[in-house]
Amino acid sequence: MAAVDAAQRPAPVDGVAAEAIHVENLHKKFGELHVLKGVSLSARDGEVVAIIGGSGSGKSTLLRCINCLENPTSGIIRVNGEQIRLKPNGRGDSIPADRRQIERIRSRLGMVFQSFNLWSHMTLVENVIEVPVHVLGVRRADAVAEAERLLARVGLAEKRDVYPAYLSGGQQQRAAIARALAVHPRVMLFDEPTSALDPELVGEVLKVIGDLAREGRTMVLVTHEMKFAREVATHVIYLWNGQVEEEGPPEQIFGAPKSERLKQFIRSIG
Ligand SMILES: Nc1ncnc2c1ncn2[C@@H]1O[C@H](COP(=O)(O)OP(=O)(O)O)[C@@H](O)[C@H]1O
Ligand SMILES: [Mg+2]
Repeated sequence: MAAVDAAQRPAPVDGVAAEAIHVENLHKKFGELHVLKGVSLSARDGEVVAIIGGSGSGKSTLLRCINCLENPTSGIIRVNGEQIRLKPNGRGDSIPADRRQIERIRSRLGMVFQSFNLWSHMTLVENVIEVPVHVLGVRRADAVAEAERLLARVGLAEKRDVYPAYLSGGQQQRAAIARALAVHPRVMLFDEPTSALDPELVGEVLKVIGDLAREGRTMVLVTHEMKFAREVATHVIYLWNGQVEEEGPPEQIFGAPKSERLKQFIRSIG
């Protein structure tokens, strides 16, 4: 497959790659619970941003705000240079000002969740072509050809007509990655893509994600796999209690952490 969809990626300005994702001073409250307390993040084209942190620190909420699955309480989110337009909902929170904008943005984000979220009543090839055909208006024959190519890419060519229930967790997660790739995402979002897998299946999924990272795909990756994060990330963000406690290149975060909390976290996870 072509390393990266060049068409999706604007030319660098002054040699600096453009921002695929820009998050600025993001706050998210669930009622009284203040989950994100002013988080900022930037993922430029070609960057792999790894988000690490303990359970409940707000990692999933952050990704869900970027993907418009949660509405931020305040803050700025730009995806592919386009700022998500929000309006107050009258209860101290905000809601999207333009549903069509949200659909457009979301349809171009490749999101892979912790639990395998393939549609169970569809075969793998049907799963992969669903959004291209029904949302993006791709011709069915073209979408099928592309789906076959993507399934082959993740080692599932033989399983194209199989239903998810007949596949291992690792196979399902690889199919979910093929489905995410089918929208030609400029940036991919992963939320602990291997944490629900049996240990012996983790490697095959990390291999696929690692290959994508090494191809120069832009991604924001929440992971508990520290060795993997150190290997593929260009930038690591340690989230603690809804705030960025420390961030930097992987060598710094894993090799010479400054924050006591981060040091302890790394020790605890191993
Ligand atoms: N929809 C929701 N309603 C209320 N509280 C939520 C909701 N989603 C997440 N939370 C709370 O927000 C906090 C952060 O959750 P989450 O973003 O899932 O953390 P992480 O992914 O880092 O484990 C947790 O205390 C969680 O219980
Ligand atoms: Mg989570």
